[in-house]
Amino acid sequence: MSRLDLADWFAPMDLAGFSQSVLGRRIHHTPARAGLAARLRDTLEIHSIDDVFAKQVRRVCAWFQDEAGNTGSALMPSASARRLYDAGFTAFFQEIAEFDPFEREVAETFRISGQSAKVQLFGNRPGAVTKVHFDPIDVITVQLTGRKVWRVAPNEFTPRPLHGWGAGDPLTPDLRAYQREAPPERIPADAREFVLEPGSVLHVPRGYWHETFSDQDSISLHVLLTPPLRMDFLLAGLKNQLVRDERWRESVYDFETPEEACSRTTVDLAALRDALDRLDPRDLVREPLTRQPVELETRFVRAGQTAFGVDGLDADTARISVSAYGFRETQTASLLVRREFLPALRWMGDMSAGAPVDIPDVLRESPGLSKEEARELLGMLEKTRLLRRV
Ligand SMILES: [Fe+2]
Repeated sequence: MSRLDLADWFAPMDLAGFSQSVLGRRIHHTPARAGLAARLRDTLEIHSIDDVFAKQVRRVCAWFQDEAGNTGSALMPSASARRLYDAGFTAFFQEIAEFDPFEREVAETFRISGQSAKVQLFGNRPGAVTKVHFDPIDVITVQLTGRKVWRVAPNEFTPRPLHGWGAGDPLTPDLRAYQREAPPERIPADAREFVLEPGSVLHVPRGYWHETFSDQDSISLHVLLTPPLRMDFLLAGLKNQLVRDERWRESVYDFETPEEACSRTTVDLAALRDALDRLDPRDLVREPLTRQPVELETRFVRAGQTAFGVDGLDADTARISVSAYGFRETQTASLLVRREFLPALRWMGDMSAGAPVDIPDVLRESPGLSKEEARELLGMLEKTRLLRRV
């Protein structure tokens, strides 16, 4: 299968160096490289704008300046997209069916979810201008044909924004939450200019100001990444923990008096602090499992970020599942166990994160088990991550 293969895109910097120290943090630019452009044109099977229009494009927009000089875009109906392009409209090809495998490759490369990676194309016409703005995504662009000029500057107005904004747009409450300065009317004076020619790569970090100009026809590849945020990681872990408790799944309509809502929220905040205290980094960041055997004196705690359930029962056995919820993926282990194990399993399943567990506890809940069986059960549950060794 053909791949974009990003290993040499940022040369002389390698992909690991780019991912760890540049992506989302600073501008990166590489000069034109005819070899890279030729390789990508072959991989994408795009040598001219005709090849782009021959693809299965599910969404294409016209990109233009309106009378006020602001950048506008409008969906191009597929039947008329080519005529509009020929009439001088710059086209933004956003959903290209043939690019789905490239989007999966990009998601794997940068360890983000499949929906968070997009691979798109711009077909710029001479005279196309994109007015100064910023986007809430990290952008990597590679020039495939023609020339396009970019001006890029850090954003002191709203660093690391979660929403896009362009000069002249109304300011939204979302942006005001972290606005530092008055909104600028033009790109800041410290902007750097880059002339992208075939094989040039440019990384515009999330939130950086940018504007573009085209003096000739050009086709550029755009890799767009929606990064996971530091707060998303912890909020996802907190929600995984809260969702186990029916209290937090209660509906809250707005029918209470302000006094009732205030006193409920006061109690909820205290409970939330307790839940937060039970979050453990060792549950949120999955470390490799130990190879140490379980001894009779080995002690465990009920781990967080996991849930236990019974999938089916027959006379002698129970089929159980343990799901371990992760930020990027959730793993579920299915096990067949003797029914005598169930009381101890249910007891451990209902425990709060951080509660201690050892072999005497298991024997108390499932008195039919031998010490050896209790030891095996704890070892098995450690592998599913329902228990964590202390
Ligand atoms: Fe942009």
